[in-house]
Amino acid sequence: MQADVCTARGFGRAASPSGASTGIHEALELRDGGRKWGGKGVSKAVSNVNGKIARALRGFDVSDQRGIDSLLCRLDGTKNKSRLGANATTAVSLACAQCAASEEGVGLYRLLGGKKLPAPMLNVLNGGKHAGNGVSIQEFMVFPIHFSSFSEALRAGSEVYHSLRGIIAKKYGSQSTGVGDEGGFAPQCRSTSDALDLLERAISECGYAKKVKLAMDSAASSFYDGKTSSYKVDGKRMSSDELSDFYASLAKSYPIISLEDPFCEEAFSDFAHLRARLSGKVQVVADDLTVTNVERLSQAIECKSLSSLLLKVNQVGTLSEAISAAMLCRKNRLGVVVSHRSGETEDASIADIAVGLNCGQIKSGAPCRAERTAKYNRLLQIEEELPSDSFARASGIVL
Ligand code: PGA
Ligand code: ZN
Repeated sequence: MQADVCTARGFGRAASPSGASTGIHEALELRDGGRKWGGKGVSKAVSNVNGKIARALRGFDVSDQRGIDSLLCRLDGTKNKSRLGANATTAVSLACAQCAASEEGVGLYRLLGGKKLPAPMLNVLNGGKHAGNGVSIQEFMVFPIHFSSFSEALRAGSEVYHSLRGIIAKKYGSQSTGVGDEGGFAPQCRSTSDALDLLERAISECGYAKKVKLAMDSAASSFYDGKTSSYKVDGKRMSSDELSDFYASLAKSYPIISLEDPFCEEAFSDFAHLRARLSGKVQVVADDLTVTNVERLSQAIECKSLSSLLLKVNQVGTLSEAISAAMLCRKNRLGVVVSHRSGETEDASIADIAVGLNCGQIKSGAPCRAERTAKYNRLLQIEEELPSDSFARASGIVL
């Protein structure tokens, strides 16, 4: 859902996205329920924006982001934004930030004070809840890091994506080149290794074997069975120790340097064991485990569960709370990956946030579908405004 904010000198517009594999600890996305729109309507959240929130914010200084966001939190009064809806608060919080940037006549990334272009993780093969192909792992990403600029990295990612299309068409037939939620292909691979083989082939066909690495998001809560405390991957049941061995062997066979949500959303210690086991080689990223929430993140830091945080503003509901999570990571020398959602909009604020927070990493799907390319296109625009040495390369990755 989208919100507009106007002041005498500025205008801001932003939209909150939605997720298919949402973590249970995320802030609540308020939907209407009932029969209209299949229950997915957001008229309650819209009336919260136009009513309570608009009344409270009228006359407020739009450049006081922390003040605005704490007002939104107070107005909501719940732990998970369930009264106003995190979709309402996210859209308003980001629209205020965009409005403040427009008052200053600068892009949001400049207002946030950053100048580092991120390395993109491009999700080129979709599985899990983002595709109907029976592949357990949710995201297979190419991660072009050894390039001198963002645009060169993006070009390489795009070339690999198109080469992958040809390989899939030959192997599975051209009917298999339809795309999943995040724009990646969704062929009927039989196993995780099959999927990774396809990616490796596409990368080497393009001549980028040394320059483009791989990343995965297991989104393991989606294949975790709480009753038996086991995971079902590639048709096999695995304990968390077996799953850890599985990841370690994949990391040996393939150039995987980043692994997100390898275990379910409560598995702080399984995350920690894997992080220690793969230390120096693979970045362990926490998404559903930490949900951009400082409390959950503090627990994960205490348990040494993560190398980097996946940052999604709508998981917590305001920009300031997401920035607090990023600052806590910085203080603890952890990385941050700014991320889109599977249900995205054309809003490209996350591109500015990734640059603005100097994170060095962004995840925005395949170079396909306008809601994905909007973010990459915004980064190309920002690149034109920044000095030529602004690309983070691999510097934001914490192994
Ligand atoms: P979601 O997936 O937006 O469906 O939650 C993205 C992710 O898990 O990173
Ligand atoms: Zn994830």
